[in-house]
Amino acid sequence: MQILIIHGPNLNMLGKREPDIYGATTLEEINSSLSDKAQELGVDVTFFQSNSEGDIVSTIQDSISSCEGILINPGAYTHTSVAIRDAILSCGLPVVEVHISNVHKREDFRQKSFVSGVALGVISGFGINSYFLGLSALVDYLKENS
Ligand code: DQA
Repeated sequence: MQILIIHGPNLNMLGKREPDIYGATTLEEINSSLSDKAQELGVDVTFFQSNSEGDIVSTIQDSISSCEGILINPGAYTHTSVAIRDAILSCGLPVVEVHISNVHKREDFRQKSFVSGVALGVISGFGINSYFLGLSALVDYLKENS
């Protein structure tokens, strides 16, 4: 079972970026721990990070034939991107949306997600554990529904 993990804009800066909100762990460290978790769960993962909305849309489109589900932290595009929402709808794959911070406790502009309404589920506010919880939930869903 193949899962695509997408990290949106500025998540390449994890570790340096607002550590009081996002913690001290780098994206490389998160991906390495996600690979270990995937191995435990018996699935394969591939990673993609981009600061570009169009590249994320293209990657979602290309994933249709190469994976069975997507775990995504859309970063700031969560709150702005109709294009990512439409790409998720058109790929037809189950998608779990994750956030390191609890976006609902933050600024008003973070209260709207264009992705949540087309996601299988959303996990927000558990620090980097949001990724592990999201991966585990997605794999459970795929195992039950394949
Ligand atoms: C984020 C929350 C977003 O509002 C923000 O723009 C990010 C990170 C999170 O993981 O908490 O870049 O997606």
